[in-house]
Amino acid sequence: MTKVTIDDADLRGRRVLLREDFNVPMRDGRIVDDRRIHEALPTIRALRERGARTIVVVHLGRPKGRLDESLRVAPLGMRVGELLGTDVRVATDVVGEDAHRVVAALGDGDVAMLENVRFEPGEEANDPAFAAQLAALADVYVNDAFGAAHRAHASTEGVAHLLPAYAGYLMARELDVLGGVLEHPRLPVVAIVGGAKISTKVGVLENLLDRVDTLWIGGAMACTFYRAQGLGTGTSLVEEEHVQAARRLLDVAPSRRASLELPVDVIIAERAEAGADPAAVAASAIPADRMVVDVGPRTCDRIAADCAAAGTVVWNGPLGIYEIPAFAAGTRRVAEALARSSADSVVGGGDLAAALEAAGVADKIGHISTGGGATIEFLEGKTLPGVAALREREAARS
Ligand code: 3PG
Repeated sequence: MTKVTIDDADLRGRRVLLREDFNVPMRDGRIVDDRRIHEALPTIRALRERGARTIVVVHLGRPKGRLDESLRVAPLGMRVGELLGTDVRVATDVVGEDAHRVVAALGDGDVAMLENVRFEPGEEANDPAFAAQLAALADVYVNDAFGAAHRAHASTEGVAHLLPAYAGYLMARELDVLGGVLEHPRLPVVAIVGGAKISTKVGVLENLLDRVDTLWIGGAMACTFYRAQGLGTGTSLVEEEHVQAARRLLDVAPSRRASLELPVDVIIAERAEAGADPAAVAASAIPADRMVVDVGPRTCDRIAADCAAAGTVVWNGPLGIYEIPAFAAGTRRVAEALARSSADSVVGGGDLAAALEAAGVADKIGHISTGGGATIEFLEGKTLPGVAALREREAARS
């Protein structure tokens, strides 16, 4: 794990390029959920206390190297300023004249933000020339953007090779907690993997089969497994091209550590819409004209019992269409069971964080990761490029 954090750096009066992941959901130019910004505050506060001149670098959305007025980061800078109780100036460009002006005006303990780094084509291309332009703005680089660490971009990877580089507190905590779950968890370990698509989770399931004791599958993804077992799935979402992958996982599971568990009952409805009259049926009795929208009550009881007996629970992805209240009971009941359990708990993915908030149990969960794709790739056992760059610099220092 990365151990060298901002605590190890002398930062007074130094310009710190701080990469954060503030890619938060927005509606009509307003922030819908600012959890990622809150989680970054301890790092920003520490930098201020140490007299650093902080230049926050963030991306918003996927503007693909072009300026997009709807993806300007001014609302993010404003929210950071509100939360810190200070003025945060936002440059109107990334590495241009205004960025240089804003940085030059920083005093010790001040914070500024650059415009959306993905407006620059060099960002996603990890162009060395663009990384050098970013590096020219600062003396030190701090990467706190765990949620973007699976991207090898100029601001997450390239620039780490050009400046003294350190991890922020959020990055360090994510790596510690997620790494701990995989490397030295309290036993037994229960994993719950939900979500609509198996295609994005095959790697996670594959890795977890060797690392946990019980692996529950939930969400629409379970239907692809049912299809692989030859069960009827009605009008449910099934990824036909991944039925083979599901069959393979079912085939190899008996020779692996984890016992692979599918929902024994499900909630079905006519449509994935509010008011669509939900009903519980056994997994083997899904009618041809109905779709699976949630896990059923017997399944919830079994997952809850596993959570109660677990030493560690890791959960990624909702178990039903939780945005529709009538189909949210499975996710909510498992969230409540997790909140009651004394297991070390780690929950990943933005969707699920919102569901836990809605269930009123977010504060009873050990760790809610700020990563979406990054958490998934971490649980797959992959090395994240942003983390690898920090480690390389750390190894070179020691
Ligand atoms: C995220 O929101 O998961 C990260 O910010 C990465 O965003 P991306 O998938 O657009 O690279």
